[in-house]
Amino acid sequence: MARTPLMAGNWKMNLDHLEAAALVQKLDWTLKDLKHDFSRVEAAVIVPFTDIRSVQTLVEADEMKIKYGAQDVSVHDAGAYTGEISTAMLTALGCTYVVVGHSERREYHGETSQLVGQKAKKALDAGLLPIMCCGEALEIRKAGTHVQYVLGQVEEMLSGLTAEEVAKSVIAYEPIWAIGTGEVATPENAQEVCGAIRTKVAELFDRATADALRIQYGGSVKSANVKDIMAQPDVDGALVGGASLKADEFAKIVTYLG
Ligand code: 13P
Repeated sequence: MARTPLMAGNWKMNLDHLEAAALVQKLDWTLKDLKHDFSRVEAAVIVPFTDIRSVQTLVEADEMKIKYGAQDVSVHDAGAYTGEISTAMLTALGCTYVVVGHSERREYHGETSQLVGQKAKKALDAGLLPIMCCGEALEIRKAGTHVQYVLGQVEEMLSGLTAEEVAKSVIAYEPIWAIGTGEVATPENAQEVCGAIRTKVAELFDRATADALRIQYGGSVKSANVKDIMAQPDVDGALVGGASLKADEFAKIVTYLG
């Protein structure tokens, strides 16, 4: 089964709404110049909450094919949850994706795989597609237990989801030691874990679900290394941090097929 690769730019806490509009506009022009075919490779920007309305306005006005989404979402529907944003707020702004369980949220906000799974479920219930993050820290990689560790995270994140829900979801494997460090996992490192995730999903659900699920690699992806990473059979895209903040560079990543 053919999976459409997804290149998603996670802007993290960068760019205000004016800068966001400028970057999306430039990205769209650049991809148009390069005659990018969005049916071959999907492109999405995962932006700060305060940027979503500006991005929506631009995408709709210019009928752009770039998709967009948020970096987190609440498990609650509404009410006394200061600082949180609901799935309904995101769908009202036309979001397609929402990243859940990024390692930075796990580290700085104590998010567990169980909570991440609940957020993914909440997103799917609202019609949003979750990009569920997983990945090991350096000590775990050094101890050689990274595959087992990541599969534990995956099992927990998927425990409340149906096969149908998993099939339309995205899992992003982001080894923490490769995030923002310039230290990219080798294509073989990425394949080892992404392949193991797919096998695990086939065990937990069934082969068709595992074949439909998209698995991204994330961690220091740039135009210079994206091709080798994407050549791996179980890597269906990238979650890109730093390199997604420059339109030219991110456009090169999106058009890696040439
Ligand atoms: P970098 O691409 O900056 O390493 O960040 C990866 C990441 O965390 C994307 O979510």
